[in-house]
Amino acid sequence: MTIDIKKNVQWCGKIDWELRNFHGEELSTPRGSSYNSYLIRDEKNVIIDTVHGAFADEYIEQLQRMIDLNEISYVVVNHAEPDHSGALPKLMEHCKNATIICTNAGMKSIKGYYHKDWKMMPVKTGDIVKIGTRNLVFVEMAMIHWPDSMMTYLTNDNILFSNDAFGQHYANAKMFSSKSDKAVLLDEALQYYANIVAPYSQKVAKKIAEILTLSLPIDYICPSHGVMWDENITEIVELYDKWAKSYLEDKVTIIYDSMYQSTRKMAEAIAEGIADILPDFELNIYNAAKTEKSRIVTEIFASKLVLAGSPTVHNGVLSSVAAVLGEIAGFGLKGKKAASFGSYGWNPVGIKILNEKFEKAGFELINEGAKALWNPDDDVLAEMREYGRNLAENIK
Ligand code: FEO
Repeated sequence: MTIDIKKNVQWCGKIDWELRNFHGEELSTPRGSSYNSYLIRDEKNVIIDTVHGAFADEYIEQLQRMIDLNEISYVVVNHAEPDHSGALPKLMEHCKNATIICTNAGMKSIKGYYHKDWKMMPVKTGDIVKIGTRNLVFVEMAMIHWPDSMMTYLTNDNILFSNDAFGQHYANAKMFSSKSDKAVLLDEALQYYANIVAPYSQKVAKKIAEILTLSLPIDYICPSHGVMWDENITEIVELYDKWAKSYLEDKVTIIYDSMYQSTRKMAEAIAEGIADILPDFELNIYNAAKTEKSRIVTEIFASKLVLAGSPTVHNGVLSSVAAVLGEIAGFGLKGKKAASFGSYGWNPVGIKILNEKFEKAGFELINEGAKALWNPDDDVLAEMREYGRNLAENIK
C-alpha cells in the first residue's frame, strides 16, 4: 500500500495491524501501529526512514514497484531505533548510490546496530540539502527521545517529517488525521506522548518554541507512527506544548492491587468519598494487575491526584502497583498530588513504601496514607469515604 501525500511525495511504510506490544512487552498497543516511511521524488530521490525489520522484504518489494532503488540519492535516518531502521540493511543493499543522512549521534547508533560502512552525511540543525526543486532542512531533536533523533522539513511542499514526535500507535488504513476518528486519534496521541515522550517534556517545550520561531509554513506533519496530520496542524503542536508543561486535567486516578479484596474495598470507598466532593472530576479506578500499564500511565499523566493502594506483603507491596510507580519515577511529572492506602495484617509498611515511590516520582504527598487492619468492616469503609472526601478537598 502506498499513499500520495503531495505530488512526488508518497507514504511507503507498513501498517502493523497485529502489533499489541511495543518496546519489547513494555507498552501496550491495542490499536496496532504503523512504521511510516516516505519517498520524495526530485532530481535527487529521497527515502525518509524505513520500517521494522520484520517487514523489510515486503517494504523493499513495495519500493521496487515504485522506483528503481539505484536512483535513490539519500536515505534520511531521522532516528535509528530499529522500529524505523530495521529495514535499513536490506534497503542499503539495493540503494547502491545512496548516502545516509543523519545526525552525528545517528552515525553512532546506526553503526552500533548494523556495523556497516555505509556512506553517511552527518547534519545538524539548520543544515540544508538541495534535492532539486526543493530542499531538505534538518532540525535536531536530541533526547526527544534518543540522542540521534531529528526532524526533516521539506520546503515548497511544507512537510515536516517529525519521526517519533506527534506519532501514535494507531493502525488506521485512512492514514490522515482529517479522515480519522478525532477522539480516538487524540487519545492515541496522548497515550503515545505519556508513555514515550513525557520523560523528555522539558526538551519538548523548548524544541516547540524553537520550531515556532523558525516560522516554517507546515501543511503536513508526517510522523513515523500512526496517521499523518493534514488539517488544523497547530492543534497537535499546541497539544504537545500543553502536555509538555505539567499537564493536569480535572481527573483522579486510583490504582490498586488486592489479594483478598480488602484493598479493593478501600479503593472503592475512597473513590466514593472523592466523588462526593468532586462530582465533575473524571475518576478512574484500575486494578494494576488487570489493566494495560500504558493506559494507567496515560491516566496518571493527566491526573491532578493519583492514589495507589496495595496490601502489605512480604514487607513490600504487590508488584503490579510497584511496577507502575517504578515506571513513572523517571518521567519528571510535576504538580501532581498523591496518597497511598492498603490493608495489612501485622506490619503496615505498604503505604510507607508506596509513599516513597510517589516521592521519588516527584508527587506531593497529601498525607501519610490510609491503612486498614485485615478486612475493613463498615466502620472502616466509612472512614475510607471520609479519607477520600478529605483528599478531594485538598485538590478542589
Ligand atoms: Fe518509534 Fe523511537 O522509535
